[in-house]
Parts: sequence; C-alpha cells; structure tokens
Amino acid sequence: MGNTPLIELNRIDALPAGVRLFAKAEFFNPSGSVKDRAATAIIADGIASGKLSKDKTIIDATSGNTGIAYAMIGAAYGYPVTLYMPANTSAERKSIMRSFGAKIIETSPLESSDGAFNAVREEVAKNPEKYFYADQYNNPVNPFAHYNGTGLEIWEQTGGKVTHFIAGMGTSGTFVGTSRRLKKENNSIVTVVVQPSSPFHGIEGTKHMETTIKPGILDESLEDSVVEVSTEQAYEMTRKLAKQEGIFVGISSGANVSAALELCHTLPSGSVVVTILCDSGSRYTSDAFWNV
Ligand SMILES: Cc1ncc(COP(=O)(O)O)c(C=O)c1O
Repeated sequence: MGNTPLIELNRIDALPAGVRLFAKAEFFNPSGSVKDRAATAIIADGIASGKLSKDKTIIDATSGNTGIAYAMIGAAYGYPVTLYMPANTSAERKSIMRSFGAKIIETSPLESSDGAFNAVREEVAKNPEKYFYADQYNNPVNPFAHYNGTGLEIWEQTGGKVTHFIAGMGTSGTFVGTSRRLKKENNSIVTVVVQPSSPFHGIEGTKHMETTIKPGILDESLEDSVVEVSTEQAYEMTRKLAKQEGIFVGISSGANVSAALELCHTLPSGSVVVTILCDSGSRYTSDAFWNV
C-alpha cells in the first residue's frame, strides 16, 4: 500500500521553461486506486479501536473505488462488505466489487453521491448493531492516511522541491491530507483544488462541492485556489495521457492533469507541480469517450 511511483509528465505538453510536472501513480496500489490508502487506514483503525468486530459488516457509501478497496480488504480479513453507490457507477467497478464478494445497493443516479450517502445513513440508523460504518466522508482517518502517506511521499520523492500540489475532491481525503502535510513541511507550498465546471459532470469520483453535501473532513482553509475543468477537457486529457504518455488512467486523473497543465502555464521557472493519477483506465473501458 502506498509508496507509489512519481512520474514526470514531459510529453503531454510543452511546459514553460524550468517548470516541471509530476504525477503520483496511485493505480499501483493493490486494488488499483488512491482509495486503498483511506480504506486500509479506516479498517485498521476500526479493528484497533474494537469498533470493527468479527460479527460486523463493513458498510459505506462509495463512488466505486473505495468500495473496491473495502471489498478487497474485507475478503482478505473475513468481513462481509455492503456498499451503497449511484446506479451509474461504471459496470467494471461494480463487477470488481462483486468478484470480491461485496453486496451492492444502487441508489438513484440523479442524486449522485449524496443519494448513496443519505441511503447508507438511513440503513445504519435502523440497524446500528449490525455494521461498522466506515463513513469515509466524515472519518478523520481518511485524510490522515494521506497526511502520513501521499503527502510525505511527495515531499520525499521531490527532495522537498515541490512548490504546488493540485488535485480534485471526492471525499476530499486526498486533497486535505496531502495538502496539510505539504504545508506542514513547507508553508509556502501552494495547494490548488480541481473542480468540475458543472454540477452535472462525468468526472467520476469527484464532487462539485458547491452544490453537494460537503464532507465533514473538508478543510477549505487549505484551498489556495480552484481550477475548473469540464468533462470534455477531462475526457480529452485522459485520451492524450494514454496515447502520448503511455499512461492509461481514469477520467478524474485526466481532469487533474488538464488542470495541472493550465496551472503550469501560469508559473515561473523553478516551479515543481505534483498531481494525482487516481485510478487505472481499465475501470472505464466500456465508456464511449475512448472511441472519439
Ligand atoms: C476515480 C476517483 N478520483 C478521485 C477521487 C477523489 O478522492 P478523495 O475521495 O480522496 O477526494 C475518487 C474518490 O473516490 C475516485 O474514485
């Protein structure tokens, strides 16, 4: 878990002189996404605190990747797993979760991640004794996994040279934990949010924060600025990363790189920008955007 490679992106676009762009290849985690970090830490914390005992089912709302991570870890440790997610979560993700033996409850795609979040809370309120509610949107262990992992790794892998960190937000765990760690190491590091340009977007795994329920772990004081990305820009960059860099990733990774390049073009020589490649493109092969 963790210690993923930091890849320099130097074929995707001509960057301003002296500006370098790196991406953390989170698809190298064991279940294939950045969410392995939070899920592992949350389950380990549940076991250590005694809240997750052998008679409990791990339950949470997920846009897919955290669910895959819970399902993998649940199978390995012998805990049943129940996952609530919008029905339009990609077929590949649902089939991976089912392969690990998890139970899936689908919620209305029109309500996006909020629908899954509200439905899981209702179920936990009805039968609290049955579940270990991982609650990735409000559990401080989620950003802490990135504080101890992703943020520290970026600091060390750049030899302390990182000047900017830029990433999108789902639960916000990656952005909050990583930014908090980087600013602790060097308070002048600038941390930038990538946000879908519309509430109705196709950047799976990310939230349009202004129009959805804000996660309890979100810390807006870490947001130095925001770069908006449209679904089309994210699709286009996802295709370019595959064809021009040989990096096969999902749409939120395309959004992150698209926004990171926009940021790079505003920066002076000496800037070192780091973003996140959240998951692998193999989770989205049935999506039509690949065929444009
Ligand atoms: C594909 C993808 N990208 C980005 C994110 C956002 O990560 P975080 O929840 O740490 O904000 C997620 C979260 O599930 C995701 O699945």
